[in-house]
Amino acid sequence: MKEIVLSGIRSTGHLHLGNYFGALRNFITMQAEHRCYFFIADLHSLTTHPKPDDFHGNVHRVLTEYLAAGLDPEMATIFVQSDIPEVAELYVLLNMIAYKGELERTASFKDKVRKQEDNVNAGLLTYPVLMAADILIHRPAKVPVGKDQEQHLEITRTLARRFNRLYDTDVFPEPTAFNFGSELVKIPGLDGAGKMGKSEGNGIFLADDEKTIHKKVMRAVTDSGPTAPNSEMPDPIKNIFTLLQVVSAPDVVAHFRAAYNNCTIRYGDLKKQLAEDICKVTLPIRARIQEIGADAGYLRKVTQRGAAQARESAQATLKEVRKAVGIREF
Ligand code: TYM
Repeated sequence: MKEIVLSGIRSTGHLHLGNYFGALRNFITMQAEHRCYFFIADLHSLTTHPKPDDFHGNVHRVLTEYLAAGLDPEMATIFVQSDIPEVAELYVLLNMIAYKGELERTASFKDKVRKQEDNVNAGLLTYPVLMAADILIHRPAKVPVGKDQEQHLEITRTLARRFNRLYDTDVFPEPTAFNFGSELVKIPGLDGAGKMGKSEGNGIFLADDEKTIHKKVMRAVTDSGPTAPNSEMPDPIKNIFTLLQVVSAPDVVAHFRAAYNNCTIRYGDLKKQLAEDICKVTLPIRARIQEIGADAGYLRKVTQRGAAQARESAQATLKEVRKAVGIREF
């Protein structure tokens, strides 16, 4: 059965391996089978990056990288969030049923309050509500995302349920966060702690060249090596193995695991292998980034077509939503 599938990525920074393995790769696999919507969350980027001179360039870059990674506008609807004004209207309506307390408890909000204490704007607080509007406006069954978005999806489900109950409707299905491996993935960074991110300076980008990838991987945090057979791995080493597991063949992973367990591992060899296998995934994408990014006519066609398709779906939902809320014409 064809399911509706939706996901998005913020237009801040280059796409990295976390974005690719957390969201994009699932999506690329699903686009041929399902009714897929994939978008660039450019309005969300204003909560942290309010610079008009950078705004369009950021969207251009993320769109180019999406397409280069394999999203196909012939199969999926690919669009830019700010091209769909219906999302802003649904955001207003959902804000009326979202409570300050529940939004303040969101991990991403608390994190941003710490990171940008001089700009704790209302958009940061209601970030999950805008995300819920992005999702619910197309009424998807599945939302392929990484582990870091789990809490936002839970808020989306809560708002869908609450809206249906308060307005006595069944307009919104409850979408589920989705990954093919069933567990949502968290791709770690190269600095030994935390997830790979755009801003943390710990990431490998799809646009990185071979030399940069090798340099970054060789610099990844490790330790002085295992001192006893079968010892527990410390986090930085676990992280390197997590990355190896997503990019390398199972026998390669098994080989290095065995070497760790019998204390013969050489981190230099491990990193060299990891860098080579990352390059196998990303370098073909990098080559397409350069080609697609230069084709302004193609990018215009993709976004115009995507916006028209997404607006059609959004308008159908909004019509039902307005009716449920009690908005009527004279
Ligand atoms: P963003 O732009 O931070 O990340 C986009 C996607 O990449 C995944 N991801 C990761 N997965 C695993 N490991 C990592 N280290 C890692 N880093 C990022 C994210 O889980 C996400 O799937 N709020 C969203 C954008 C958004 C959205 C939406 C997503 C706005 N509206 C509606 C889905 C549906 C965000 O900031 O993702």
